Amino acid sequence: MESLVNPHVLQITPYKPGKPVEDIQREFNLKKVVKLASNENMLPIPKNVREAISDEMSQVHFYPDSDNYYLRRRLADYNGLALDNVIVGAGSVEIIHMLIRTFLKPGEKVLTSEKTFSLYKSATTEIAGADAFVEAPMTPELCFDLQAIAARIDRHTKIIFITNPNNPTGTFIRAQAIREFIDRVADDKIVVLDNAYQEYVDDPDNYVTGMDEIGRGKNVVVLRTFSKVYGLAGLRVGYAMAKPEIMAILNRVKPPFNVTRIGQRAAMASLENEDYKNQSVRLNRKNKAKLFTRLQGLGLRVIPSQANFLLFFPPVDIQDLNQRLLRQGVIIRPMGGFGIPEAMRVTVGLEEENEFFLATLEKTLKEMSPI
Ligand SMILES: Cc1ncc(COP(=O)(O)O)c(C=O)c1O
Repeated sequence: MESLVNPHVLQITPYKPGKPVEDIQREFNLKKVVKLASNENMLPIPKNVREAISDEMSQVHFYPDSDNYYLRRRLADYNGLALDNVIVGAGSVEIIHMLIRTFLKPGEKVLTSEKTFSLYKSATTEIAGADAFVEAPMTPELCFDLQAIAARIDRHTKIIFITNPNNPTGTFIRAQAIREFIDRVADDKIVVLDNAYQEYVDDPDNYVTGMDEIGRGKNVVVLRTFSKVYGLAGLRVGYAMAKPEIMAILNRVKPPFNVTRIGQRAAMASLENEDYKNQSVRLNRKNKAKLFTRLQGLGLRVIPSQANFLLFFPPVDIQDLNQRLLRQGVIIRPMGGFGIPEAMRVTVGLEEENEFFLATLEKTLKEMSPI
C-alpha cells in the first residue's frame, strides 16, 4: 500500500488527541472518568447558546451559508475590522492547513518554536514534507525565543507561527517583543499569531492581539477559536483575521460549506454572552492558581501558565504514569507528541475534577518509583 501513498503522508506522526471519555469508560469498565486533556472549557455552554443551537435544528436539512456571512459580520464588528478581514474555519486547525496549502511554495519552509502545538508540524509535513518544517529552541523558562526564531529566518522561510500563550507550556510573550519581531520580518513572509488562548492572559495591556499590525498592512494572520473560552470545541469553529489581500487568496482554498449551520449560530450567540466568557476566565484563574500550588506541593516542577492548562514534570516513567491514571479514570495528556516526553499537561477543570485528578495523581506517584 505504501507505494500508492503521497510520500509526505508517510512522514507524518499522527496527531494523538486526548482520549475520549467513552473509550476509557469502556476499556477499563469505569463509571467515573475525568477528562482534562484537550484544554476545553469545562463549564457547560450558557442558555442563550443552547437555545440558538436548538433553534437552528429546524434548518439543518439545508446547507449552511458557505460564506459564513453573518458570523463574519459579527466577528468583524467585534474585533473592529471589516468583513473582508475575516475568514471562518472548521476550527482554527482547518485554517492552519489552509494557510500552509495556500502560501508554501515548493522549497519554502514553515518556522516556529520547538515544544509548541504539534499540528503545525504535522500539517506542514503532510503538505510539503518533513524537511519543510524548522523549529527554533525555547528559552530555559520554556518561552518562545523570538531571537532564536529570528536567527533561523532565511530566504526559504515563508510562514512563521507564534503561539501566545503557547500550548503546551502556557508561557507568554510580551507585547514589545512580538512587535519588534514583526517589524523585523521581511514583507515576503507571513507571521501567524495563534491566539487560541488570548482570553485567558493575565495582562491584556501587555498583549499583541494583532489588530494594530493588520491595520498597518503587515503580513500578519491572527488565529482565534471558539473551542476554548467560548466552550464550543465540539462544534468546530475558528477564525482568522488578516488584510483583505491575504483573505481573498485564502478564500480560494476554503472548502465550501466548511462550518455547519449549528456552529455558525452557536458562535454568533456566544459572542453575545460576555458573562459566560468572563465567568470562565475568572474561574480558570482561581482554579489554576490552586492547581499550581497543589502540584508544587507534590514536589513537582510546574510551569507558570497564562492559559487554561498547566505543564508539569512528574519524575517517573510518563507512559507508565499515564496508563495508571487512565485505569483510574483520569485522562490528561503526555507531552511526547509536543516534544516534551518528560512532561504532562493537565487542563484546568472544575473544582471537583481537579480534586479527583490531584488525589489520583498523588496516590499513583506514591506507588511508583522515581527515575
Ligand atoms: C495553540 C492552538 N491553536 C489552535 C488550536 C486548535 O483549535 P481549534 O479547536 O479551533 O481547531 C489549539 C487546540 O488545542 C491550540 O492549542
